[in-house]
Amino acid sequence: MTKVRLLGHRQNRAVLHDLFPDTVATDGAMLTLGGVSAAELVAEFGSPLVVMDEATVRASARAYRETAPEALIAFGTKAFPNVAILRILAEEGIGADVSTLGELRFALAAGIDDGARLVVHGNNKSDAELAAAAEHRSLLVADSLEELDRARAAGVERMLVRFTPGIEADTHEAIRTAHHGSKFGLPPHDTLEALRRAPELEGLHVHIGSQLLTPGDAKTAVDWIATFAAKARAETGWTWRTLDLGGGLGVPTNEDESALPIRDYVGIVLEELERACALHRLELPSLVFEPGRSLVARAGVTLYTVGSVKQVASSTTYVAVDGGMSDNPRPALYGARYAALLANRADEEPTEVYAVAGKHCESGDVLIDRVTLPAGPRRGDLLAVPSTGAYTLGMSSNYNVTPAPAAVLVGGGSARLIRRRQTLDDLLALEA
Ligand code: LLP
Repeated sequence: MTKVRLLGHRQNRAVLHDLFPDTVATDGAMLTLGGVSAAELVAEFGSPLVVMDEATVRASARAYRETAPEALIAFGTKAFPNVAILRILAEEGIGADVSTLGELRFALAAGIDDGARLVVHGNNKSDAELAAAAEHRSLLVADSLEELDRARAAGVERMLVRFTPGIEADTHEAIRTAHHGSKFGLPPHDTLEALRRAPELEGLHVHIGSQLLTPGDAKTAVDWIATFAAKARAETGWTWRTLDLGGGLGVPTNEDESALPIRDYVGIVLEELERACALHRLELPSLVFEPGRSLVARAGVTLYTVGSVKQVASSTTYVAVDGGMSDNPRPALYGARYAALLANRADEEPTEVYAVAGKHCESGDVLIDRVTLPAGPRRGDLLAVPSTGAYTLGMSSNYNVTPAPAAVLVGGGSARLIRRRQTLDDLLALEA
């Protein structure tokens, strides 16, 4: 097996390689992940298939833990809600950020049942969710004044308040979360009111958005929240003990994007916090980070099987695959652009431009507008789409009564199922 082949002769192939998990390699013409060939994976587990590389998940977890060893790192479970992945992360010392009872059940099933490792979120928490936060003694992030009162009444002991500073993060507008008018958190005036009302509040939370490819906005958020903490101290006497900086670090999904490595990003944020605390003479609070995407995105590769190949215009040939917006809605929702290669022809030079269509009954179901593949993709070829470990399967739907794909974990030359494929019987069982 060799890594060199995937690098190919052209510079952009090296970048394509970087979108894949750490263990990607080729064996002859065949792509391998975690030491297992793509063809074997699909033969055993079916297609489409989400393949998660254990080594990459663990390495990402370690990058957070080693750069911020004192902080609680709570996985943004929504990025890939899966018990086996939560278990692996727990082994690496990572907790869970959950935003529904469902995500909480998954975290508990993975053995993350110590309240000190659980953060409960949500902009509209139900009574049951507040009661569960109290029962598990987790940290709860209050999202409104009304919820703060309800959470206290429910017996929640450890609480942060979510602060919305009014930052337009440089990302898709659907995943900005701390701008003026956001549905999340409290604007500065109401945050102050929360601190007056509940002086026992342990600290503040801020999450400005997701898929942040540069650190500038995260630094601004740190500056603003420290300035706010100083103002709150001056006006109310309250001081923070805990600061939760949310998630947000982006992961490239195509060759034109780049993002900071985890260690660099966390290092920059920590440095900015130290600087801001010194400036305002604030104590350094204990820290929480809630990374979702950056822990799992690059670990995931989706394998599809090519079906129909159809030229519809002189410049457009569609390569249709056996999945689409039901297993990855991100291109349709956020205009996300993905890269791909033919996993069973990984030794061939990509020379022709194609569009990759999903199989769903609408024109918007195009997974990739433009991708360079070896000439002449054929029925039965395997298409590998890297950087699909976050917000793909976790956001899947059953559109067109399509069962959700299976997920497998690879490493050390073997693969095991971590989520079985849905069946039509599963879907039919819900019908009355
Ligand atoms: N903490 C809070 C409070 C959040 O709302 C989120 C994500 C995270 C942490 C994790 O953020 P991350 O590190 O993954 O950026 N479906 C969208 C992303 C939505 C993110 C929602 N909140 C996508 O596919 O891009």
